[in-house]
Amino acid sequence: MRVLGISGSLRRDSYNTKLLRAAGELAEEHGAEFKVFDGLKAIPPYDQDDDIGAGPAAVARLREAIADADAVLFATPEYNSSIPGVLKNAVDWASRPLATSPLRNKPVAVVGASTGMFGAVWAQAELRKVLGATGARVTEVELALGHAHEHLDPTGRLADPAQEEALRDSVRVLVGEPENAEVAA
Ligand SMILES: Cc1cc2nc3c(=O)[nH]c(=O)nc-3n(C[C@H](O)[C@H](O)[C@H](O)COP(=O)(O)O)c2cc1C
Repeated sequence: MRVLGISGSLRRDSYNTKLLRAAGELAEEHGAEFKVFDGLKAIPPYDQDDDIGAGPAAVARLREAIADADAVLFATPEYNSSIPGVLKNAVDWASRPLATSPLRNKPVAVVGASTGMFGAVWAQAELRKVLGATGARVTEVELALGHAHEHLDPTGRLADPAQEEALRDSVRVLVGEPENAEVAA
């Protein structure tokens, strides 16, 4: 089981990237391989004229990384009540061509962190909507980490055991998703 992590923040000390890495450690405890996608900043603005074949190199990398993963975990910040433009842009690229998009039927989950009290809930809702439109299988995971600067310790671990347990539950749902789908099929 390979899980790809995508953080919607490019910031070096991003709380969302820290949350993603914390989730990755828990996924590894559940036997999954976890990798964070590090090429978001290199992805050019979506232009349908450039969307030919494998697309620009940075886009091809993203599409391959998603295709190679059994599941994708997104951690998104909230920018002005929505998802960061870089993340929407990357999902737009990954969504094409619709019939062969690596996101199609891919189990995905969304978590988020913000320094405000609501933990990027609106951004998460938007991202789930967008991912649903791409044909991804959006799992029923919701983890909103508000006041992230108070809850992530300097090593990037969740200080509160209850929050770590909630993150573990989210990871468990995502890691179990392909199995659940096979059973349901
Ligand atoms: C352009 C911009 C817009 C923001 N808008 C929101 C917002 O709508 N809601 C919110 O809770 N936080 C908002 N914030 C604060 C972010 O939650 C905070 O900067 C957070 O640390 C970003 O995530 P990161 O640490 O992963 O980079 C905004 C920050 C920026 C830079």
